[in-house]
Amino acid sequence: MINDVVSEINRLKKEKNAVILAHYYQEEDIQDIADYIGDSLDLARRAQETTADIIVFAGVHFMAEGAKILNPSRKVLIPDMRAGCSLSDSCPPEAFKKFREKYKDHFVVSYINCSAAIKAQSDLICTSSNAEKMIHRIKKEFGADQKIIFGPDRNLAAWVSKQTGMTMVSWPGTCIVHETFSERKIAEIKVNHPKALLIAHPECEASLLAKADFIGSTSAMLTFTIENPATEFIVATEEGILHQMKKRSPGKTFIPAPPNQNCACNECPFMKLNTLEKIYDCLKNETPEIQVDPTLAAQALKPLTRMLEWSK
Ligand code: 13P
Ligand code: SF4
Repeated sequence: MINDVVSEINRLKKEKNAVILAHYYQEEDIQDIADYIGDSLDLARRAQETTADIIVFAGVHFMAEGAKILNPSRKVLIPDMRAGCSLSDSCPPEAFKKFREKYKDHFVVSYINCSAAIKAQSDLICTSSNAEKMIHRIKKEFGADQKIIFGPDRNLAAWVSKQTGMTMVSWPGTCIVHETFSERKIAEIKVNHPKALLIAHPECEASLLAKADFIGSTSAMLTFTIENPATEFIVATEEGILHQMKKRSPGKTFIPAPPNQNCACNECPFMKLNTLEKIYDCLKNETPEIQVDPTLAAQALKPLTRMLEWSK
């Protein structure tokens, strides 16, 4: 059955000149059929560069919407239109506008995990893999006393502020996955695995990041596990990334950081809405399709393009 779906997806992909972009948090079977797997920055670049007629974005809505903004002549499909993001949802455009009005002389940096309407209100976009670089660039261009608004993730804002020495006011959003990790349970794992390195995504809370041996985006974490000679890692991000870690370093041990509750809260419920069957359906029916108002898209494109240029 699975094989039938996979061969049908491959047939439709060829027939329709489509490409499948998948985030590391997707189910393993989706990662295995994707043309490209990556973090938010990798996938934005792929979306901008592709010459395929159709982009199937196996990720969440803000990622697919970003692909449409960067490459508007392509048809962008998302397997499940309900695949949102708690961070993006924490920042409604009207409320963000009022927040910005309180800090009129501030430069507005928005994490890519936000809607097109927030991007359109921003001077620059960043992802977790280039946030530090972007803030350093602002420092270089406008001086160390340039005031900054950073939204919508308060943990990433605090981490990047610490790394760069730049003060910033942040929107108080968080990710439902990255705020759930239990430091007590991680400490318990360390008792049995004293040599294991704790690697964490910067969306995690500051107290956890303070204990981490490495902090970085999903791609950066993956590279770290490949290049570092350690053989055991406790991974504090969505557990989908473990699939690539195990594939790339089959002899190493990867332990997902456990959540506070006895739940699967280290799985992103939005990312996990996508399935192979939905990918097949969306390729076949060419729906659900991402649409972005052209005026909004033109405004959102400016800070996105600036990010891609500054991160070359
Ligand atoms: P990355 O850019 O590191 O892939 O992170 C995306 C994301 O949604 C993290 O929760
Ligand atoms: Fe959003 Fe968190 Fe899911 Fe990433 S893991 S898409 S930040 S809800």
